[in-house]
Amino acid sequence: MGQGNVACVQRDGFLETEMGENMKKEAAEVLWHEVEAEDIFDLGLRVSFAGEVRPGQFVMVWTGDGSRLLGRPISICEATAETGEIRLVYRQMGAGTKALAKLAVGESVEVMGPLGNGFPVEAYKEKRVLLVGGGIGIPPLVGAGLALEKPAFAVGYRSETYLMEELPVIGDVLVATEDGSLGTKGNVVDALLTRERFFARNVEAAKTANDASLSNGEGPDAATNRKEAASESMTEELGTAKAYGGKPLRAGETLPNYIRKPGWLAEGLAPEAIFTCGPLPMLRAVAAFAEERDIPCFVSMEERMACGVGACLGCVTKTKHVDAHSGVTNARICKEGPVFDAREVVL
Ligand SMILES: Cc1cc2nc3c(=O)[nH]c(=O)nc-3n(C[C@H](O)[C@H](O)[C@H](O)COP(=O)(O)OP(=O)(O)OC[C@H]3O[C@@H](n4cnc5c(N)ncnc54)[C@H](O)[C@@H]3O)c2cc1C
Ligand code: FES
Repeated sequence: MGQGNVACVQRDGFLETEMGENMKKEAAEVLWHEVEAEDIFDLGLRVSFAGEVRPGQFVMVWTGDGSRLLGRPISICEATAETGEIRLVYRQMGAGTKALAKLAVGESVEVMGPLGNGFPVEAYKEKRVLLVGGGIGIPPLVGAGLALEKPAFAVGYRSETYLMEELPVIGDVLVATEDGSLGTKGNVVDALLTRERFFARNVEAAKTANDASLSNGEGPDAATNRKEAASESMTEELGTAKAYGGKPLRAGETLPNYIRKPGWLAEGLAPEAIFTCGPLPMLRAVAAFAEERDIPCFVSMEERMACGVGACLGCVTKTKHVDAHSGVTNARICKEGPVFDAREVVL
């Protein structure tokens, strides 16, 4: 395990870092292990720390093969304190995750966690939070959505979707696919911009109808009725994929409507905060989208990791706080992150 020049010793299975924290690897029993989509797996583990997990935290997982000494960081998708279970949803990428994919129910795997800081769900619990995910960055947003009162999702996929059976149960969902097979054709920011244009058009149409009824001498009640009808048709239209500028659902598609429980996303309201996780170019685009609209934005960064506990400095990212001596300040993604205020890190 890379330990760099930071005080760090391994003793009786404990990794003691300069922060004075003791993190212990433990053997976690595999409770379920299912294929969620092509190369995407849903893994349930029994662990001792399920009750301590905050949404957006992650675990290091060791596949048990001596040739792969470094753990692999995987976000905790959900944690259930009562049963001691955590759920990981991961993509099979290279040797580590391929070995993980071979684990059978009843076997055990070494894990350490919960690690990192997590999303600021307490501070934004009652706010309209938009959870924006792309690639394999969607799983930690499930846990965040469950901890919030007014969550909504905007998710981007290349083509095949995953977790789409459950996201609409937690909140409204806006979808983008790169090949246009579902939702908006393009990336997740394209979907957000399409939604904004949709509402700009419809709000303008409702306003015109309102002005027309007032100038026709119909009185405020008729104007209100027209406005309500316009708003109803807006919500109805938003119940379909078409509303988001994409194609209608594919023939035979069993996906629930995008808006199962119409909430603030379907009403055209702006988010009060954005939490996002996914590939770096997406994080940059989402952070820029948020900044242009003055919306607080928290990004969960994915970087290759060695120790996962702040000891090896293998996962540093630059922050915007400038150190008087070095001219730059670094933050460890595994320790100070993986979630950062988008205004504080260099993306
Ligand atoms: C905090 C954090 C949370 C993560 N959560 C999840 C998750 O919930 N689900 C999931 O599927 N993956 C997640 N990842 C990414 C996951 O850790 C990597 O996919 C995994 O380590 C790859 O290991 P491997 O041995 O299979 O592949 P390797 O053989 O190590 O690499 C295969 C390919 O994956 C790329 N890769 C490796 N590590 C990363 C990384 N950290 N980020 C981006 N690309 C990488 C490599 O560049 C290479 O192209 C997370 C990463 C971090 C840092
Ligand atoms: S992975 Fe070692 S400091 Fe982050």
